[in-house]
Formats: sequence, structure tokens, C-alpha cells
Amino acid sequence: MTAEFVKLEFEGPVALITIDRPKALNAINLQVLTELDGALTQILAHADARVLILTGGGEKAFVAGADIAEMANFTPMQGLALSTKGHQVFARLEALPIPTIAAVNGFALGGGLELALACDLLYASEKARLGLPEVSLAVIPGFGGTQRLTRLVGRNRARELVFTGDAIDAAKAKEIGLALEVLAPEALLPRCKEIAQKIASRGPVALAQAKRVMEAGADLPLKDANEIERQAFGLLFGTDDLKEGMRAFLEKRKAAFKNA
Ligand code: CAA
Repeated sequence: MTAEFVKLEFEGPVALITIDRPKALNAINLQVLTELDGALTQILAHADARVLILTGGGEKAFVAGADIAEMANFTPMQGLALSTKGHQVFARLEALPIPTIAAVNGFALGGGLELALACDLLYASEKARLGLPEVSLAVIPGFGGTQRLTRLVGRNRARELVFTGDAIDAAKAKEIGLALEVLAPEALLPRCKEIAQKIASRGPVALAQAKRVMEAGADLPLKDANEIERQAFGLLFGTDDLKEGMRAFLEKRKAAFKNA
């Protein structure tokens, strides 16, 4: 597939997706969603990919939201279809069996923040501005923002961001638990790659299970969530990687994992 707006590169175990439509501040139109979906399929087929980093092309934006020009004249059914497609693609991103990192290098607004929220970890440049400004367009977040932001930062903070439509800076995003670290613009991608390399050195089957268990348990009563953890913990003892990881520790050497 030839992608115009979504670039996918592999650097060893790290997959890097760049939403690259800088003239429109990387706004997400239907084509971007299709291309992002295609990139996720390629990552799933790439056996060596252990971590995904997602960022925005150009100097100014991560992603400035869904494409307002494209959707301005949508009918209700077209609006529903856009939201459905966004939810489907972001759910695939969220369900990838590898950890995902949003490197928020600039504006992450509306659908852009929602894209970052569908990633596992969020690191922000000092230049980043994050928000859900949809109500200023008389629409609401449609790619999961009302739900994922609420689950991440709590109803109180999420309501304030959704109702005011205000964007916050990276320091505030860190303060409310949305961003993990705030970095100088030139340090953002190197730091995300450093974290990605560290994650990539860990046991891949265990990482996939840790991610799955944390996702699956998030909305369950603690008793049921702990049961999911218990089952996954036991199953990992059937993997070669677990034997290798524990043997390597006991033999005081670095483990060589095979994702098996
Ligand atoms: N959709 C389409 N085009 C967009 C865009 C978007 N979301 N955001 C920016 N652009 C375009 C602008 O129209 C402009 O294009 P032209 O050069 O052709 O005029 C270009 O990108 C540069 O943008 P600005 O000139 O506006 O740049 P700025 O630095 O003055 O402002 C900004 C930057 C504050 C991010 C401003 O562009 C902005 O407010 N953008 C819209 C943000 C927004 O409302 N996002 C939410 C969209 S709705 C949504 O996402 C729904 C959903 O949940 C699914």
C-alpha cells in the first residue's frame, strides 16, 4: 500500500508512525484513518516490531484533530461513519500486542489528543498543546476522547477540558497525569526511542500479556481483574522466554528472548 499521509518506518525493534500532513497540521481525514489502519496491519505482520512510537510530521503539530474541512458538510450518517471508523482504527491501535508511545510534538487537539490517548504512554514536547476543543465547533469528541480521557485523568479534569474546550500546555498535562514527561522539542523523539529500546529488551510475550491484562481488567471489579492476571501469570510459565529470562538471571547474563 502506498501511503500519502501516514509514514511507517522500522528501526530495529521500534516501529515509527508519522502522521505526515503538515499543511493541515496533520489533521485526520478518512484517508489518514485508512492509511493508519494499513500501517497497523503492516506492524502486526512485522514479527520483529516490539514497540510503536507515533508522532506528527512538521514542526507544529502532533495532530490538530479530525479534518474540519472534510466533515463540515457531513450528514448525520456520514458523521456516524467517521466516528465508527475512527473508533475501529483507534481500538486496533489500542489492542496492538506491543506497547505504544505517543510522542506529542505539538498541537494534539480533538482527534489528535484522542489518537494519543489510544496509545499506552504519552510523552510531550515543551511546545505541545493538548485539548478537546470540539464543543467550540458545536460537536463532541468522536474518537473516544470523552471516554479515554475520563478514565485516564478522572471525570473532574476531563469534564473541565471537554466543557471549556481549552488546550493545556505540556506541564499542565504532566500535572494531571496525561503526559508522563515534558521534554525539549529536540529531546522528545530520542527520549521516546530510548524508552522504546528499554521496553524492547524485555520479554515480549510478557509485555503483550501485561498490556492485555491491564486493558482487560481496567473496567472490571478488582476480583475479576485479578483473576485475569492470575491466569496470564500461570500461562507465561509455558513460554520459552520465561524460562530464558529466569535462567539468565540465575546465570548472571543478559536474556535472549525469542517472543515464544
Ligand atoms: N482540520 C482541518 N484543517 C486544519 C485543522 C483541522 N482540525 N487544524 C488546522 N488545520 C489547517 C488550517 O485550516 C490551516 O490551513 P490553511 O493554511 O489552508 O488555511 C492550516 O492547518 C494551519 O492552521 P492555522 O493557520 O489555523 O494555524 P495556527 O497556528 O494559526 O493555529 C491551531 C493552530 C490552534 C491548532 C488551529 O489550526 C486550530 O484551532 N485547529 C483546529 C483544532 C480543532 O478544533 N480540532 C478539533 C477538530 S474536531 C475533532 O477532532 C472531532 C473528533 O473528535 C473526531
